[in-house]
Amino acid sequence: MMNKLSLSLVMAAMLGGSLQAQQGNDIVVNAAKKIAPVQSTMWGVFFEDINLGADGGMYAELVKNRSFEFYKPLMGWTPQGSQVKEGSFLVLNRGFAQEANPRFLRVLAAGAEKGKFGLSNEGFRGMGIKAGLRYDFSVWYRQPEKGVTMYLELIDEKGGVIGSTSFVPDQSADWKKGSVSFTSNATSPKAKLNIWFEGNGQLDLDMISLFPEDTWKGRKGGLRADMVQMLADMKPGFVRFPGGCIVEGHDLTVRYQWKKTVGPVEQRQQIINRWNAEFAHRPTPDYFQTFGLGFFEYFQMSEDIGAEPLPILNCGMACQFNTAEVVPLDQLEPYVQDALDLIEFANGEVSTKWGKLRAEMGHPAPFNLKYIGVGNENWGPQYVERLKVFTKAIREKYPSIKIVNSSGTDPEGERFEFLNKELRKMGADIIDEHYYRRPEWFLGNAARYDSYDRNGSKVFAGEYAAQSDRTVSIHNRNNWLTAMAEAAFLTGLERNAEVVHMASYAPLFAHVEGWQWTPDLIWVDNLRVYGTPNYYVQKLFSVNKGTHVVSALSGGKALTGQDSLYASSVLDENAGELVLKIVNASGAGVNRNIVVDGLKRNGNVIKLVVLKSAQLEQVNSLDQPKAIAPAESALQVKGKKISLNLASHSLTVIRVPVKK
Ligand code: AHR
Repeated sequence: MMNKLSLSLVMAAMLGGSLQAQQGNDIVVNAAKKIAPVQSTMWGVFFEDINLGADGGMYAELVKNRSFEFYKPLMGWTPQGSQVKEGSFLVLNRGFAQEANPRFLRVLAAGAEKGKFGLSNEGFRGMGIKAGLRYDFSVWYRQPEKGVTMYLELIDEKGGVIGSTSFVPDQSADWKKGSVSFTSNATSPKAKLNIWFEGNGQLDLDMISLFPEDTWKGRKGGLRADMVQMLADMKPGFVRFPGGCIVEGHDLTVRYQWKKTVGPVEQRQQIINRWNAEFAHRPTPDYFQTFGLGFFEYFQMSEDIGAEPLPILNCGMACQFNTAEVVPLDQLEPYVQDALDLIEFANGEVSTKWGKLRAEMGHPAPFNLKYIGVGNENWGPQYVERLKVFTKAIREKYPSIKIVNSSGTDPEGERFEFLNKELRKMGADIIDEHYYRRPEWFLGNAARYDSYDRNGSKVFAGEYAAQSDRTVSIHNRNNWLTAMAEAAFLTGLERNAEVVHMASYAPLFAHVEGWQWTPDLIWVDNLRVYGTPNYYVQKLFSVNKGTHVVSALSGGKALTGQDSLYASSVLDENAGELVLKIVNASGAGVNRNIVVDGLKRNGNVIKLVVLKSAQLEQVNSLDQPKAIAPAESALQVKGKKISLNLASHSLTVIRVPVKK
């Protein structure tokens, strides 16, 4: 949480500015002079499996540790019933035969009775179950002799059975997949799954899975629809994935390797999630990556929501905050090959090795990949050396692919200066800048890109979030002060759309019981989801992105904090509208006139969307998801000037119909 002193300093500065604002200065928009196109990629999202973002979150699997690959093979599972004894359940490891999925569970039943011999799975902080919904159970199994029946039960918090069915495995010497569906008769945010065994014999089990029917687009084994919908509603221009530090890994053995995340789910090799033990103050020992949400699914989801996919790949370096291992330059080839193969996976003909796999997975058409990121938050000469090798290879084989480079962890300082210079010398296509800073920094940096070279490398504001406390503090809140400060900064990105081609908040998702990092854009529990004030800021910029930047000046200058006002303006040629975004960061309402020059207004009705709160500390929550949410209205205007009262502590989006 922001301490009282700095909060009052910020408020005093804002309030002081607002007094001058009362004098009023027209905001003049030159709608006829297009400064630059706004890239379709301007506002996007950055997805990382942090805070139970994927497993336990957007990946709708309800069973935790479905194939017994967690460090503790029975984590999430509890034997149940009076007939359980030593040796009833054995974890077997066939590592030599199946490297990707070595473990399975052997169940030895001897006169087992229903309700007396079984297992229970606790889910990820429970299982979110909905009344009347179908649940699809599946399991890989083998059974030398037919003899064991399985009974499935969904149990609510009070121990009541809210859905049940049975499954009778065949006799089968080889592994086979079985499945059965059933319906729940009640809603429970924290249910569990019981599996009771009846009969005699040996039954081997693996990939024990339960999915709800209502996944995104109804895909079996798919994603949580409510979470993807939140992204779709933002109309993002791109999806950056899968990280973040997850790409780098604590060490290189657990770096993200996309090839291990595609193909049949039972053949994807699980690894520990690097956020599992990253923060001693937020340990999450049950956090692993099943990769059920893998690169194919990322591409598919990006396509579904009309966003460009932006995969980020390991550059031959592990996280420099952790082991900082680097791959010797003469052994970098497999890493580079992964990048080239990924482009083939996304775009290649179905006759190619990786294009064929894409087709087998259900998408013969190319994903039309245009961007690839090499490295996340990497820095130093060791990064530049490795990046050069990647860049040469990618440009030689795929000259039209744009490469995103990292500029490290901070938006200033020695590391940033060094990389920014080196990358620009290399002719980098796009440079990824990250800023986890206090609200004051965001309010004070709206002019950051005004002086950037218009003809040089483009900027990707890849990770940003105003911190109400210090970075990685558990006290950080997604309050209105942070969201409003971001909005002020985003006007600066938009004004500089000539330079800034992409922007995304970070991190994207957090589970209220399973998070490691705060603040986050969207919070969920097992059944619900809500957008933070920061989410609404991102969404308002994205859905009002327009097609071209035009100038919005007051006293001949861009508004970058004078009188606590920040403004940017775009023309939306498709809608025939001029769109103005104004942040009033002061504690008092401000009257301003807006003058539209260059194009005639089309009619006398303009649309307003206002996001505001009188309380800078105000947050949204599961119980009050829209404490801060955009309010839309229409306004009749007369004459050339549009007179507006800009509410205190507000972001106002103004859409003015104009004649072409
Ligand atoms: O967004 C959380 C983390 O912050 C990302 O993984 C990393 O890139 C940054 O340090």
